Amino acid sequence: MYSNWINNDNYFDDLAVFGLGFFHPGGMKRTKEICESRNWADIKVLDIGCGIGTTIKMLSMMGAEVYGLDRSQYMIRGAELNGIPKQNLFCSDATKLPNFTNNFDVIILEGVIGFIEEPVKLIRNLTNCLSYNGEIIISDWEPHDRNITDFDDQYGFNVYGNTKLAELSNRLYSKPENIRVRIELDEAKSFNLTLDHSITRVHSFFNLDGIQDDHIPAIIRKLEKMKSVLQESIECMSYIMVLSENELNKKMQLDAD
Ligand SMILES: C[S@@+](CC[C@H](N)C(=O)[O-])C[C@H]1O[C@@H](n2cnc3c(N)ncnc32)[C@H](O)[C@@H]1O
Repeated sequence: MYSNWINNDNYFDDLAVFGLGFFHPGGMKRTKEICESRNWADIKVLDIGCGIGTTIKMLSMMGAEVYGLDRSQYMIRGAELNGIPKQNLFCSDATKLPNFTNNFDVIILEGVIGFIEEPVKLIRNLTNCLSYNGEIIISDWEPHDRNITDFDDQYGFNVYGNTKLAELSNRLYSKPENIRVRIELDEAKSFNLTLDHSITRVHSFFNLDGIQDDHIPAIIRKLEKMKSVLQESIECMSYIMVLSENELNKKMQLDAD
């Protein structure tokens, strides 16, 4: 499993294995806002780009029926290890949605839409999986803030700060979070993440014992790359927006006109 990871530079796989599968601008504070935004009992929720399933795990504890979809097999594995039932997880690209037989009351995208080339198209497709009066909740980079195309150079894909998103937004929270990041590998092959002046030991779900010593230089290189990307990412503005089905239909209509 690790040789695949060591030899490929995929930002999301790296996040997952380094124990950063729960990671988005605004951090836990933003996720708590989502969790506190409504009553989740019996709500059927799909988390697109669910990472290691941290948000859906919290929502499940609040009574929701939770499903997660992510493109990274390492993220999906992390979500399984985090206790999300395997049958509720989909390893798939959000732009090629599986055929869901049921509709979801809420679809969440945290720290995902910025990576999608055609976010409006994705949201339109997602409305097809939304129940009547359903909601899509997006928490992400503030699209006006800056472009974060440096990701492109480092991990070989584009991150889009799509201004069309701003037209869709009806609830904005724009607080830059100036957190300094330091991330390093210690002798026990654990990862230490330093945010500001407090040190947090990052818990990786993966058993790093499987990593061989000759993998270490590649891991250090990955960590260096990750460090600069994290720095960039955390300093970006973030926002949450909630779109009801009616609003979405109206805005999609505007978009089509
Ligand atoms: C920044 S992480 C956020 C993870 C989690 N939502 C969170 O908030 O902590 C972005 C996640 O989106 C997933 N992702 C990115 N593009 C995707 C796509 N096209 N389809 C499915 N998942 C995608 C990545 O694999 C990664 O897990």
